Amino acid sequence: MASHRVFHGVVRTLALGLVIAGTAGAQDTAAAAAERPVSSGVFSQQQATRGEGTYQTSCQSCHAKTEYTGDKFKVAWVSKSAFDIFDVIRSQMPEDNPGSLERQQYIDVVAYIFSLNAYPAGGAELPADDEGLKKVKIDSPPGSLDVASRAPANGFLHPRVTFRK
Ligand code: HEC
Repeated sequence: MASHRVFHGVVRTLALGLVIAGTAGAQDTAAAAAERPVSSGVFSQQQATRGEGTYQTSCQSCHAKTEYTGDKFKVAWVSKSAFDIFDVIRSQMPEDNPGSLERQQYIDVVAYIFSLNAYPAGGAELPADDEGLKKVKIDSPPGSLDVASRAPANGFLHPRVTFRK
């Protein structure tokens, strides 16, 4: 009976989906252990100041600071990693000559963008390598409304997850 077989196929697919989802969840937890939120102080003040210099020479001619702050920043980058923002900027900017800056200059600009969004400076600079940058997670900027708190009052609220060192 064809519909019977289809039913079994669906059950198998669902079961497989659950197994895969379960495995992915476990991996997320393991990866989260090494993650650091930007709000924990992931760049130094000196690095942000260097980034500001790069921004003034290489970005300001096309971008106002407001393009990197407030809701624009949050919608584009919260829940992503420092690597994600670095990678977009490095591969696409400056728009008239992408990839033309030093790798370190791109990382410094990311530090500057974080500082514009009121994340506190810390004792060390952003990691210079891709893997290290991937572990730096962009959480909601300090003092801003939590993204989760914007959900409808009677809707499902995702539990606020805070990563600690
Ligand atoms: C010559 C002009 C120009 C310069 C210089 C420039 N940009 Fe851009 N940038 C643009 C344009 C135009 C866009 C929109 C591109 C698009 O949406 O496809 C953009 C988009 C962006 C975005 C959003 C990309 C995304 O996909 O969300 C970021 C972030 C950014 N620029 C950062 C920078 C930084 C940092 C610098 C300096 C290192 C810089 N830009 C220099 C013109 C420029």
